[in-house]
Amino acid sequence: MFDLKGRRAIVTGAGQGIGAGIARHLAQQGARVWVNDVSAEKAERSAAAIRSAGADALAKPFDVTDRAAVVDALSDAEIDIVVNNAGNAGAHDMQVGPFREMDPSQWAAPIDVNLHGVMNTTHAVLSGMCERGFGRLITIASGAGVIGLPIGVAPYGAAKAAGISFMRHMAAENAALGVTANSLALGLMEMTEVHDNALVERLARSIPVGRLGTGDDVGPACVWLASDEAAWVTGQTIHINGGNVTT
Ligand SMILES: NC(=O)c1ccc[n+]([C@@H]2O[C@H](COP(=O)([O-])OP(=O)(O)OC[C@H]3O[C@@H](n4cnc5c(N)ncnc54)[C@H](O)[C@@H]3O)[C@@H](O)[C@H]2O)c1
Repeated sequence: MFDLKGRRAIVTGAGQGIGAGIARHLAQQGARVWVNDVSAEKAERSAAAIRSAGADALAKPFDVTDRAAVVDALSDAEIDIVVNNAGNAGAHDMQVGPFREMDPSQWAAPIDVNLHGVMNTTHAVLSGMCERGFGRLITIASGAGVIGLPIGVAPYGAAKAAGISFMRHMAAENAALGVTANSLALGLMEMTEVHDNALVERLARSIPVGRLGTGDDVGPACVWLASDEAAWVTGQTIHINGGNVTT
């Protein structure tokens, strides 16, 4: 079950965090994984860690918001599985605050990576997937793309919602051609840059399971969605959030 041998996968933004975990799980199931990141150094470090555990991974650095770079890297690559994980505000710091106080220049980064990045990768691989009769599109979304939150992330939430909607349309357009498209809406996850234990403990208390999520909670869901066994699962948004029932 869930054997990915012979499949070529790419995980975007997999140089660290959740994406690195997803790439590791896909590779452990036999996929040949391209570890993408805008940072070549991070991509190489993450791919090397997977290789050192005996699985197949290669660094493929490029910026998912750069359409020409995406086309160059992916259009002839016979990709079977795409996990659109690059997110947050992309290569920029996330600008958090009430929307009424935001400068319009602060909206572009989250929309660019979470919507245009997903469209860029999808457009580059989709025709090949349809011609070969197999494809798996998986977009890493967020609870913030499903419900409203008073935490100052409106442009990010709107961009994640757009990614979810885009997957639903890809599912409907391509279902008969063997291509599925789904989203995973994540809850509060461990963050690479956050080392404030008191904050982490406070956040963990708000989650029924009692801890923040990790790549090991998301990777197995990607393995399942990428597998032959998930052929009848498409157009869905699956919540992985430690039991947070508000989403
Ligand atoms: N961390 C959370 O609490 C949380 C919650 C819900 C959803 N998410 C989503 O999960 C995904 C992973 O989040 P994370 O916290 O592990 O991210 P992260 O910021 O720790 O890592 C993201 C990686 O993506 C790379 N990247 C950024 N812009 C890129 C681009 N344009 N092209 C290619 N690579 C790029 C970065 O260099 C980085 O290595 C994101 O889509 C995020 O929106 C995260």
